[in-house]
Amino acid sequence: MRKKVMAANWKMYKTPDETRDYFRDFLPLVAGHDRDEIVVCPPYTDVATAIESARGSSVAIGVQNVHWKADGAYTGEISAPMLLCLGVTHVIIGHSERRQYFGETDDTVNLRLKTALESGLTPICCVGEVLQEREAGLTDDVLRRQCVRAFHAISAKKAAKLIVAYEPVWAIGTGKTATPELAAEAHAVIRSEAVEIFGEDFAGQLRILYGGSVKPDNAKALMSQEEIDGALVGGASLDPKSFAAIVKY
Ligand code: PGA
Repeated sequence: MRKKVMAANWKMYKTPDETRDYFRDFLPLVAGHDRDEIVVCPPYTDVATAIESARGSSVAIGVQNVHWKADGAYTGEISAPMLLCLGVTHVIIGHSERRQYFGETDDTVNLRLKTALESGLTPICCVGEVLQEREAGLTDDVLRRQCVRAFHAISAKKAAKLIVAYEPVWAIGTGKTATPELAAEAHAVIRSEAVEIFGEDFAGQLRILYGGSVKPDNAKALMSQEEIDGALVGGASLDPKSFAAIVKY
């Protein structure tokens, strides 16, 4: 049985004060909830406040990106050692917004993933097709290509902590959700690729989250699919009541 991961991706929202208020409201709503792992990924500027606010709870704090070097002349970047010393445990890698707006490629996803795994962070690696690719019947090919390149030269042993998120780009922030069946099909493709790359045992344990307009009213149907091992939630994670309702689907 794979324990589900319910992860919030705040994107570029919230100040430290808003972060404090959020945890004040959110933590009582999920107190004692240990069926699923809960992760909140705020912007870097809220990380210290989030960690302080979540202390003593079971909520883990992640970030939305990490550079592949430990340090150096890389203006504007943040490294794994910097995050680890704050108490960050998770990192989203290769989100479609990074791919779409900030030049993220399959190769840089691979570099970031290797660094995250080597440094002991738990990566949530995002893959997913755009609408044109789905309409052209290319979804499976795209998912396989993204997995092959992202996981290149990473052993199953090294990849132990890996989490994958299937995020169809056409469903992100659009209110359009993949049907549970359609999401489960895509997850099965990703899992079969993971069998090829890492082997049967590893793939059987790999948690694959669904992301793309997950809301309190569709979370249960999505999470009931055996192939779906949790959610990566954007818009609906910004309100503590709404994210708590999703966590407790
Ligand atoms: P959304 O975003 O829930 O707002 O669609 C999901 C994501 O981008 O991770």
